[in-house]
Amino acid sequence: MVLNVNILKKLQAWTGITFAVFLGVHLINTWMAIFGAVAYDSFQQIARAFYQFPPLEVLLLGALLVHIIVGVGRIFSEPKRELSTRARWHRYSGFFLLLVIAGHIIAVRGPSWFYDVYPAFAGLSFSMDFAPYYFYPYYFVFGLSGFYHGLNGLTIALSRVGVQLPLKHAVLRKATAVAAALTFAALLGFDGIWTDVGEPAKSEFAELAMRMLREFAP
Ligand code: HEM
Repeated sequence: MVLNVNILKKLQAWTGITFAVFLGVHLINTWMAIFGAVAYDSFQQIARAFYQFPPLEVLLLGALLVHIIVGVGRIFSEPKRELSTRARWHRYSGFFLLLVIAGHIIAVRGPSWFYDVYPAFAGLSFSMDFAPYYFYPYYFVFGLSGFYHGLNGLTIALSRVGVQLPLKHAVLRKATAVAAALTFAALLGFDGIWTDVGEPAKSEFAELAMRMLREFAP
């Protein structure tokens, strides 16, 4: 039993580290929206060549799936214990990510899997313009949860595989506040506050989204 728990913790650590590499690149990419479409799209095109290279994408999404299964499994199978504030926030952010992650992947990766249409900067501009009351809070909390869970989780995971990189909670909180500011600024960037975003409603992604809404909305 002890051996099994240790194996599960190692599996959770390695899958978390694998996904954290993508997440770090992905959040930096999102923050580049502050500098406009060219910066965001050029960075994404280079990064995408790696994370959407089929064997790497299978590894990435497989790691995410295993990480979720092991994490949820451990919550139910291990004895209940008193959690520190930091551990509680790790868990809350994990629950939020769990709630939205499948929908996020289907919404932003589905169109390129099935229709060869990529959201890119214009697709996100369209989303922010189309349903701001939904997308501002959703992407803001999503980005923050991803940052907190990702960074805190990375320090735990590294220590489980023998790399000690302690991070004080005060530092983690300050870094999360900076990430919050950058994420909000990026969302304003998609919304056209910092640079001219043209007519996002005319983008391929917007046209596909509107077509799907017309076909499937009640
Ligand atoms: C905060 C704002 C975020 C925005 C605006 C955003 C936007 C996007 C976009 C546009 C794509 C498609 C990328 C492409 O076509 O190359 C994407 C893919 C993806 N995102 Fe996010 N994302 C955000 C946060 C997150 C977070 C926090 C996570 C995970 C915890 C996440 C996980 C993923 C995954 C797994 C994919 C699919 C990768 C692939 O297989 O190509 N995203 N996201």
